[in-house]
Amino acid sequence: MTTTLITGIGELTTNDDELGRLSDAAVVIDDSRIAWVGPAGHAEPADARVDVGGRAALPGWVDSHTHLVFAGDRTAEFEARMAGQPYSAGGIARTVEATRAASDDELAATVRRLVREAVSQGTTYLETKTGYGLTVADEARSARIAAEHADEVTFLGAHIVPPDTGADDYLATVTGPMLDAVAPLVRWVDVFCESGAFDAAQSERALRAAAERGLGLRVHGNQLAEGPGVELAVRLGAASVDHCTYLSDADVDALAGSDTVATLLPACDLSTRQPLAPARRLLDAGAVIALASNANPGSSYTTSMAFCVATAVLQQRLSVDEAVWAATRGGARALRADTGDGAVGVLRPGARADLHVLDAPSVTHLAYRPGVPLTAAVWRNGVRAF
Ligand code: NIG
Repeated sequence: MTTTLITGIGELTTNDDELGRLSDAAVVIDDSRIAWVGPAGHAEPADARVDVGGRAALPGWVDSHTHLVFAGDRTAEFEARMAGQPYSAGGIARTVEATRAASDDELAATVRRLVREAVSQGTTYLETKTGYGLTVADEARSARIAAEHADEVTFLGAHIVPPDTGADDYLATVTGPMLDAVAPLVRWVDVFCESGAFDAAQSERALRAAAERGLGLRVHGNQLAEGPGVELAVRLGAASVDHCTYLSDADVDALAGSDTVATLLPACDLSTRQPLAPARRLLDAGAVIALASNANPGSSYTTSMAFCVATAVLQQRLSVDEAVWAATRGGARALRADTGDGAVGVLRPGARADLHVLDAPSVTHLAYRPGVPLTAAVWRNGVRAF
């Protein structure tokens, strides 16, 4: 059996400029690809048929920013934050300690559990990062475990300077033997360009070394204060700059005039008691935005993309369509995975067969019914995953 007709889709969001949004629609999946999209009445028979009973469907969420390879627990830090302590980059060191002490099996089990949790909520394409190992051996095993479970892997050796190491010495390791060890396993490099982590010059050093090895660039920037992250990301042609919580007018203009996607992480902003990133301002200026979960044990311990979408609509003043696009095709754009054969974040012939069916008649319910688990069915890479 290779083809499946999914019919009875009351509202189909395709994210495709020509197909747009369809009513009473159907989709045909052939192995791992979308073979056909159109009105239900025009669909050809397939080997199997699933009627979703008038429910809404959309491309699976593309979660373009997570940190799933970790061990340990930071509940106490979260409680302290809710009692008024500020978030700082320093908490990362606690997770580094626990991650180094964990076995490969323990780390893999955590990644597996969180990927399963994400998929059961409609995420079908997911990036994850290293960054809690920070030795050559620990970063290499993080990259290996990530590559076994995630669709895209990012090397974040430049997450913080590990305790008892100088920044210059550590960067020499990151740009030398650590990069050598992880480069075959990852597509992207990232750097935490923020006070308490790496300054602009240090960040540029880490990014340029990886670019010379053919890795694509991503930047954590402007999370805790205005700073050089956005300018650096745009100047070096990074695919995305993530967080963007504190932006100057110049940052917004730079993003609007570039191909660098501003990836917003509303669950992180809320969990760290920061203001929400200026999503409306970015869109009005013409920037491309993505929404992602930033799932990690410190600043954002959620895999729920639906929560991010609801927050973006209810509190960041995006329309439902803008938020849904940002959490699907926007994430795909941030990962440069939204075009060609096997594109994600879009439903059209040739795209990867990643479909999310809601237990709701329209995508509006994602914001209208916040916090309600609305995922009814998920196909991931052509396989029924929920
Ligand atoms: O994206 N900001 C840097 N890295 C993560 C936080 C990691 C942590 O606190 O453990 C983030 O928020």
